[in-house]
Amino acid sequence: MHLLDDHCITLGVCYYPEHWDPSLWREDLDRMLKSGLTVIRIAEFAWNKIEPREGVFDFSFFDGFLDLCDEVGMQVILGTPTATPPIWLTEKYPEVCNCLKDGTRLGHGMRRHYNYNSPVYQEKTRIIVTQMAKHYGKRTCVIGWQIDNEFNCEIGEFYSDSDTIAFRRFLREKYGSLEELNSAWGTAFWNQTYTDWEEVHLPLPTPSGGTNPHQLLDYKHFISDSVYRYARLQSEILRQYRKRDDFITTNGIFGDIDYNRLVPEVLDFITYDSYPNFGYCLDSYDPDPAAMRDRHWSWNLAKVRAISPVFGIMEQQSGANGWDTRMEAPTPRPGQIRLWTLQSIAHGADYVGYFRWRTSTIGTEIYWHGILDYSGRENRRLREIREIARQVKRLQALAGSRSSARVGNLQDYDNLWDAECDHWHARVQYRSEDGLFAALQHTHTSYDIVTLTSGMDHRDLEQYEVLFYPHPVILEQEQAEVLTEYVRHGGNLIFGCRSAYKDANGRCVQDFLPGVIAELTGTDIPEYSFIAPDAGEVSVTWEDDAFPAAVFTDLLEPLQGGE
Ligand code: GAL
Repeated sequence: MHLLDDHCITLGVCYYPEHWDPSLWREDLDRMLKSGLTVIRIAEFAWNKIEPREGVFDFSFFDGFLDLCDEVGMQVILGTPTATPPIWLTEKYPEVCNCLKDGTRLGHGMRRHYNYNSPVYQEKTRIIVTQMAKHYGKRTCVIGWQIDNEFNCEIGEFYSDSDTIAFRRFLREKYGSLEELNSAWGTAFWNQTYTDWEEVHLPLPTPSGGTNPHQLLDYKHFISDSVYRYARLQSEILRQYRKRDDFITTNGIFGDIDYNRLVPEVLDFITYDSYPNFGYCLDSYDPDPAAMRDRHWSWNLAKVRAISPVFGIMEQQSGANGWDTRMEAPTPRPGQIRLWTLQSIAHGADYVGYFRWRTSTIGTEIYWHGILDYSGRENRRLREIREIARQVKRLQALAGSRSSARVGNLQDYDNLWDAECDHWHARVQYRSEDGLFAALQHTHTSYDIVTLTSGMDHRDLEQYEVLFYPHPVILEQEQAEVLTEYVRHGGNLIFGCRSAYKDANGRCVQDFLPGVIAELTGTDIPEYSFIAPDAGEVSVTWEDDAFPAAVFTDLLEPLQGGE
């Protein structure tokens, strides 16, 4: 994988030849190269430039552009264009479109309006990816492939008919029988017992939005599995036709995807899309300095490292952000693009690609500024990027080095997804993450985010002197044993309230709490409650200190051996 193969740190930029008059291409490529940008990512939304009508392939547009890249020595990451189906496809086969929960079918104007499970879309994907891989796979300038663009961005719910069919198949494979499904989903509650697979649906609209939480958790597993299968379909084709050293990646990271399965099984590494000024989006801005929005991006970069120790930045913010409809964020201040670039490199990124070269003059993203403004004139941001490129040359010794830490924050997908469904879990989870982040920042403590996956061993954790696992409400025996071994070998493990009261299906365990970690923690929890808004200051005392228990309290009693 010669982009991220420990030899160099590389800078690049996203480019859309289809948005510009071809007379600009050469000048653009020359200017990029002169500015130290030696890689471009292209084509991820350009399906109809290659297949303008069903089954009719015309490679002349990108042939012409790639000839130029070969000529000037520009390296190219090619995107498979499946994030935006062409109109001929959706008009002829409306079943490829995703639907909202209320059944409304999505259409053109945006992107990502397809569903992963449509057999027609999968077939059309197979065809376009094969055509592109065959035609461009051996091109000199192509150094790697990006599959699709940002799975699960913009929309994370899938309600087409194909999804319903695939959901039933997924559940049959997982549970084998309706009895097992009924038990896992607790269908004895409120008369939900299934007698036929055809009765099983995706989580449907309900009075006051209530859900079957166990069904919802499986829905998230299902979405993740759908992304995995769809990405694998593409990656298997690309693997047949790529040159030996060319890499396969996708950009992220978004909800309801188990990247710790996707990356090792389907990709060579992940690339991250980094827009730090989202912290300043006008609709979500938190002015409290304690929120430390200006530096919160390191938490995200730590999450990326938890997925893929080798990684790159596919899209690095390089201008003001905004669509015509949402997400206004300010332009980077002088020096800030440099700060973000170095921050990513310090976290272990060996590639940083800026988004995008020229600012689009058309479409939803007319306010999503690139390095250059609409006119393409020389500007402060390009000058800064040239400066960064000079500096990065002096940092080459860092290529391939990895960030390391002795403190970790444990996470796992069941609990990440449970916190998205369950208000009681969300209430504590996000407060704890923010609190932990603030404490780590104030003490200048390097940290990792560590994903606890099935099959892990306590040795995978031994580099950490301290691990926080704020609220693993779902905790299985297998994980409890790994953690117990970690502690037995000298590790320090800190749990928050509400730990270990659910099983993998999200059903509460019929046990003394904290269930499978009662012995490990030496505690019994005879009583618990969230804290009423008028309860005043509630705190937990530990030796001579008192810590606020601002959200929830477990009343802790020591078990034998506990203190
Ligand atoms: C990313 C996406 C890009 C572009 C950018 C600005 O999420 O991958 O294609 O849309 O945001 O909106």
